[in-house]
Amino acid sequence: MIIHAPTLPPRHYLQFTDLSAEEYAQLFKRASFIKAKFKAYEKYQPLTDRTLAMIFEKASTRTRVSFEAGMYQMGGSVVHLTTGDSQLGRAEPIEDSARVISRMVDVVMIRTYGQDKIEKFAEHSRVPVINGLTNEFHPCQILADIFTYIEHRGSIQGKTVAWVGDGNNMANTWLQAADLLGFKVNLSTPSGYEVDPTVVGVRSAASTQFFKDPMQACEGADLVTTDVWTSMGYEAENEARKKAFADWCVDEDMMKVAKPDALFMHCLPAHRGEEVSAEVIDGPQSVVWDEAENRMHAQKALMEFLLLGKV
Ligand code: CP
Ligand code: NVA
Repeated sequence: MIIHAPTLPPRHYLQFTDLSAEEYAQLFKRASFIKAKFKAYEKYQPLTDRTLAMIFEKASTRTRVSFEAGMYQMGGSVVHLTTGDSQLGRAEPIEDSARVISRMVDVVMIRTYGQDKIEKFAEHSRVPVINGLTNEFHPCQILADIFTYIEHRGSIQGKTVAWVGDGNNMANTWLQAADLLGFKVNLSTPSGYEVDPTVVGVRSAASTQFFKDPMQACEGADLVTTDVWTSMGYEAENEARKKAFADWCVDEDMMKVAKPDALFMHCLPAHRGEEVSAEVIDGPQSVVWDEAENRMHAQKALMEFLLLGKV
């Protein structure tokens, strides 16, 4: 008889640093393999009878669709919970929720506010927990972004990514990835919206350079990327942010100083005319639609890895 009770401590994906460079190399290979199967309408169902619980405390389009469609395609099923329709919104302790939910499913994805919440959930979970975005990090997005870069341009090692905008969850995760995978980030954020080095963690000074002027950050970059001026949870600061971020709009002038074959990425949703001009996001250097699609392929590889190990 097979007993449905994991014995080993689960691997979680709470920050980009939770996997090694070797494991990322393997994941990118698996993502390509899984994507090719999907494109050829070939069934690939290694997660038959496995269940993913998705917990959303913030809104989502891409994260929900990519995890939900991805899990079904791999033969599994999905349970969708939100704060409003579960006891999570009625102050059931996070530890108790983790103990209960992780007895019934095989993997949990959480989108929430503080990183401490997801860390606490993972501590009491019997199954892998995946960060689907917190105030501090968005590792699944950077996983997909780097996979997209590799598809278009090959290895990201030694390349330069220009980050133009808020020192937010995306910026923090890019910095973690740069150190781990050996590329550089040129970071330009408005004054008062810098990244918090205590959140990102220890990293080598060589992987990050700070610029007051966003144009300078883009000079010679292989990839230019940005994100909304106001992330979810910070809506009360919207008006102040609109003023502070006015010069941090990725436009054609910024793209011109980057390498001629530089790519543009944005995790989406985007606000044309704010953090990016319509000409850039809808222009020839933009790969934002591949980037969004690749969330699904990369996360299928991630779930395969967390549930089945190295395949
Ligand atoms: N990029 C991203 O995470 O999008 P959603 O908020 O729509 O999930
Ligand atoms: N930084 C944004 C990303 C949205 C996918 C946010 O946290 O709202």
